[in-house]
Amino acid sequence: MYEKAFHSEDISSRSFLVTGGAGFIGSNLVEYLVKYGAGKVRVLDNLSTGFIENLDAYSNYPAFEFIKGDISDPDQCRDACQGMDYVLHQAALGSVPRSVKDPVATNLANVTGFLNMLVAARENNVRRFVYASSSSVYGDSPHLPKVEEQIGNPLSPYAVSKRVDELYADVFAKTYGMEILGLRYFNIFGPRQSPDGPYAAAIPLFMFAVLNNESPFINGDGEQSRDFTFVENAVEANIKSLFCPIEKCNGGVFNIAVGERTTVNQLFEIIRDTAGSQLKANYREERPGDIRHSLAEISKAEDSMGYKPQIKIEQGLQITFQWFKKKFFPQLQ
Ligand SMILES: NC(=O)c1ccc[n+]([C@@H]2O[C@H](COP(=O)([O-])OP(=O)(O)OC[C@H]3O[C@@H](n4cnc5c(N)ncnc54)[C@H](O)[C@@H]3O)[C@@H](O)[C@H]2O)c1
Repeated sequence: MYEKAFHSEDISSRSFLVTGGAGFIGSNLVEYLVKYGAGKVRVLDNLSTGFIENLDAYSNYPAFEFIKGDISDPDQCRDACQGMDYVLHQAALGSVPRSVKDPVATNLANVTGFLNMLVAARENNVRRFVYASSSSVYGDSPHLPKVEEQIGNPLSPYAVSKRVDELYADVFAKTYGMEILGLRYFNIFGPRQSPDGPYAAAIPLFMFAVLNNESPFINGDGEQSRDFTFVENAVEANIKSLFCPIEKCNGGVFNIAVGERTTVNQLFEIIRDTAGSQLKANYREERPGDIRHSLAEISKAEDSMGYKPQIKIEQGLQITFQWFKKKFFPQLQ
């Protein structure tokens, strides 16, 4: 992965803080930054949903540093931002159902933690702050494809938390003159996405089940659709956000997706065919807070930062499936 650089700047003397860097998307950002010789890569993560082993391959990199810490603690955020040129803020508690079950925990990490990071970045004169938002902010808006300016009411505490982040980011950019960009990720998938725990996402669950020769569950009738996005495209968006001309983007939010829609039933079929399996899915009740369809208009990110997602769903699923097989079922290699 990451055969092509998404930046043309010399990053060998620049420093990057990746919060949530032990998680799925964060560790992919670390992989990219290490591969292209970043001057310093620091991770701040409390390992609540991330894994230190996601960083094993990079821990020998001389300019790599791991801080086990929590973004709900302002002092730890301040220490982590010290000497950093850029912040890629990924740390948060993901998952709509988790937020429905425990809205206070979601708020603490996603809102209080986010605000702490903005304050710490400002105090340390960070050059640019790029953060993870979510397509969940579109909430009950019926419009398809989703365009950035047309959002509805949030349908879950998780969606509220990401919307509040966007409001804080906009206010901090305007009030303090900070350079801040938000990325509304649409269903990101790829290597290192965890299949474990009650809040795992559909793609790792389907892959794990099929490789284990078990029928996975599909929530609802499976005809709900998503703009599934391979993680390399999300890394491209983050890196381009760091270096794009700020006049066009400051304080803004950008859809990060492919601009194509796939139903959950189609997704399962691709994964099943990739595995050469005949399994059928089990259907169960819809989940509260879930939206029916999601599809992004991505021209704002294309125009503002030159985002051009290279990897479509089929290719991304192939890469991800091979990774899952090697990692969890090496005996099937
Ligand atoms: N994966 C997706 O499809 C998707 C979609 C939309 C938005 N996002 C957002 O992207 C970001 C990264 O998501 P991911 O899929 O990599 O999830 P992840 O759970 O794999 O990674 C999140 C990381 O943040 C860390 N973390 C959580 N709370 C923390 C805290 N209080 N202090 C320090 N570290 C903390 C976790 O330990 C984990 O390593 C999150 O902000 C998430 O809300 C993801």
